[in-house]
Amino acid sequence: MDRRLALVTGASAGIGAAFARILASHGYDLALTARRADRLDRLAEELSLRYGVEALTVTADLAEPDAPGQILDFLTAHGRTVDALVNNAGYGLPGAYADTRWEDQRAVIQVMVTAPSELAHRVLPAMIRRRFGRIVNVASLAGLLPGAAGATLYGATKAFMVRFSQSLHLEAEAHGVHVSALCPGFTFSEFHDVNGMRAQITQSTPPWLWLGADEVAAAGYEAVEANRPICVPRRAQQGDRGAQQAGPRRMVARPNGLPGAALPEGLTPSWRRGPRPRGGSGPWWNRRSRPAGTARPWRKGSGPAPAR
Ligand SMILES: NC(=O)c1ccc[n+]([C@@H]2O[C@H](COP(=O)([O-])OP(=O)(O)OC[C@H]3O[C@@H](n4cnc5c(N)ncnc54)[C@H](OP(=O)(O)O)[C@@H]3O)[C@@H](O)[C@H]2O)c1
Repeated sequence: MDRRLALVTGASAGIGAAFARILASHGYDLALTARRADRLDRLAEELSLRYGVEALTVTADLAEPDAPGQILDFLTAHGRTVDALVNNAGYGLPGAYADTRWEDQRAVIQVMVTAPSELAHRVLPAMIRRRFGRIVNVASLAGLLPGAAGATLYGATKAFMVRFSQSLHLEAEAHGVHVSALCPGFTFSEFHDVNGMRAQITQSTPPWLWLGADEVAAAGYEAVEANRPICVPRRAQQGDRGAQQAGPRRMVARPNGLPGAALPEGLTPSWRRGPRPRGGSGPWWNRRSRPAGTARPWRKGSGPAPAR
């Protein structure tokens, strides 16, 4: 079989389904996996009709330790090997650590750390032998930011995927295998419906922070083709205000998350664009409470220093 095959986990929705569409549009045959077989079958049919690619579906629950082996055995039985792997399946488990069941936390680690690590470990040797491979690990901006309370292991698993990808990137690049960690911020998908945070998160985040799943997947595809170890997707329009303000300056200023890299072309850092308009009404992200023209009292020369 001449055509390349891409295995996408979590392909039944959101970023995974978007990845499947992009890979098919670039001529990859597909192996789509998730728990919802009906969704996978519909997507497989759509993409094989539209792009003329072969699309296999494998129903699997990645919380089951045997799942990665079973998925790859299925592909071997169909005479296929994996040329591109998108480790995308994931979810957030809400709640404080002490209030949750260990079985649920263990599943988080299995789905978002152990299964992607195992899949990469199993497909990498053949990629190295063929001197071609692509691995995208869908991490998160949360993996680059300090930990937050709630969904305790989420940021930790994503930080793991970032570090893992960086090391794998360095080990694999000499063999023609590209590895990237994709670190999206808020993305429209089913993620916040699954974890029950939709209403709360929509109210507390400005619309410009959000990206479409297709934009995120496109950024990931581009990054792995260019062999960038870390990709923080950003908006294509509006001066990328969202991407710049979604995380700490030093991190967001680096397009690949590594020290010393330049700001992406066309980006003006928000801290160099001058003050935002003050006062006004509307959501908090458009409001400034201090009246126009007043300086902070502790600014040098403008008032007493704050007590230390
Ligand atoms: N949406 C965001 O704001 C955001 C931001 C940063 C990073 N991410 C990351 O992006 C990735 C994709 O999430 P999404 O936003 O596209 O969410 P989504 O729309 O909820 O999709 C999640 C996918 O993961 C699959 N999945 C979940 N648990 C699974 C399990 N035990 N076994 C197999 N498959 C499983 C789901 O399929 P089934 O339910 O059919 O199994 C689904 O296809 C995740 O790793 C997430 O952490 C999302």
